[in-house]
Amino acid sequence: MAKKKPKQAKAKAAAKKATKKPARKAAKPAAAKKTNGNGKSSNLPKPSSKPYGQAGRALDGLRILDFTHVQSGPTCTQLLAYMGADVIKVERPGAGDITRGQLRDVPNADSLYFTMLNGSKRSITIDSKHPKGMDILNRLIKTCDVLVENFAPGALDRMGLTWDYVHKHNPRMIVASVKGFGPGPYEDCKVYENVAQCAGGSASTTGFREGPPLVTGSQIGDSGTGLHLALGIMAALYQRNRTGRGQKVLCAMQDGVLNLARVKLRDQQRIEKGPLTEYSQYGEGVPFGKAVPRAGNDSGGGQPGWIVKCKGWENDPDAYLYFITQAPVWNEICDVIGEPTWKTDPGYATPKARLPKLKAIFARIEQFTMTMTKFEAMDLFNKHDIPCGPILSMKEIAEEQSLRATGTVVEVDHPTRGKYLTVGNPIKLSDSPADVRRSPLLGEHTEEILTKVLGYNASQLNEIKASGAITAPKKEEKAA
Ligand code: COA
Repeated sequence: MAKKKPKQAKAKAAAKKATKKPARKAAKPAAAKKTNGNGKSSNLPKPSSKPYGQAGRALDGLRILDFTHVQSGPTCTQLLAYMGADVIKVERPGAGDITRGQLRDVPNADSLYFTMLNGSKRSITIDSKHPKGMDILNRLIKTCDVLVENFAPGALDRMGLTWDYVHKHNPRMIVASVKGFGPGPYEDCKVYENVAQCAGGSASTTGFREGPPLVTGSQIGDSGTGLHLALGIMAALYQRNRTGRGQKVLCAMQDGVLNLARVKLRDQQRIEKGPLTEYSQYGEGVPFGKAVPRAGNDSGGGQPGWIVKCKGWENDPDAYLYFITQAPVWNEICDVIGEPTWKTDPGYATPKARLPKLKAIFARIEQFTMTMTKFEAMDLFNKHDIPCGPILSMKEIAEEQSLRATGTVVEVDHPTRGKYLTVGNPIKLSDSPADVRRSPLLGEHTEEILTKVLGYNASQLNEIKASGAITAPKKEEKAA
């Protein structure tokens, strides 16, 4: 205790000095970020007195040079835009992000593929291979905090935007990339979602034992890696507060998928020591091989679970319920399904005794759930604290009012396609309401960015327009 006093006094004096004299020149980075262990930082402003939700957005002031396309990169920058960052999406003149035209449901309008991944951004068209285009990019590099890209390996370097080049022009710039693989034998490969699911261990552990490997509908390779990248960017920004310099952030899709499939790497190590008793394969007496098998709908954790049919399953492909035989509520489960003797029967009373009988137990539960709809079952079981979940179709999710109310599903209006649904920010910040807006048209903000962000005057703008750096190359006249 005695030792603490001088330290505290020193910190107090430093804090006083910091409040009295706003630093004219930048404070020494190390001193600027000293914390006192209570989460207080000597250079934080006074807590805002504004009501929560009215103090701006979390990432106000952050500017992103967005070179992303398809899905993985765009999910990352869209999330940052929802949180308030000014995301400037650079697209090739005349073409833009390839997804604008993919899986179109409305003729001549940007596809949902594009619009649902690029909300709240601004779009500028620049030909990065045109000398004037490179001039514009140089200005953008100087004015942005983060460059995000997910081109094929080497493409950014081929544009001339190597790390050395970017760092020389803006030493504070964070350069964040998604690639399919990290350094190693596959580092030069182009990668799409399902390739990552397969290479990251997800496909080999998904599906039924008797069937082939399966990919999941959730885009864990693309959107999952976009999420990882967003976190990496935030960490790099935080470190930049101390160091004053940017750094490279790399998220390989294989790594991202493996991170999400880590419980299967856990099981890989367990299998070397004995059978995985919570896998239904164990109860069925099927021996384990050397690698983690596919486990169908077995629960991922230590509480056995399975998907059971509900009323209407014959005609409705989603009339199912996920049911977990959680040990602490075993007695309640027995009472509700009408098997009260299972509470004390030594063959059923303990989790260990139940393991070899899981198939039969779930068959009995299913007999019961087939007498009611999945929503009735959900209501009934939850009254008894029994964990379960209805299998919701995308139609049900799209129509679910509670998801609209929380802003997880948002309807936005678009000038060429009309109203569409998008997924809002799944991360809720109590002081930063999500800013979910429609996606930009191709090049919609080109002039605005050139003049208002980069400071080009009218004659320079005309020169740029005439140069071909921001417009699609003219189609060659057909020979007469
Ligand atoms: N002006 C001029 N050229 C531009 C441009 C612009 N504004 N924007 C992009 N380009 C060019 C690039 O310079 C590159 O040209 P180059 O190969 O001649 O150097 C080309 O367009 C795009 O490259 P690439 O990324 O290879 O596109 P692709 O359609 O062939 O490949 C992927 C798509 C997704 C397979 C690949 O980008 C990839 O593997 N990305 C990393 C992993 C990833 O994110 N995958 C998930 C996608 S959801």
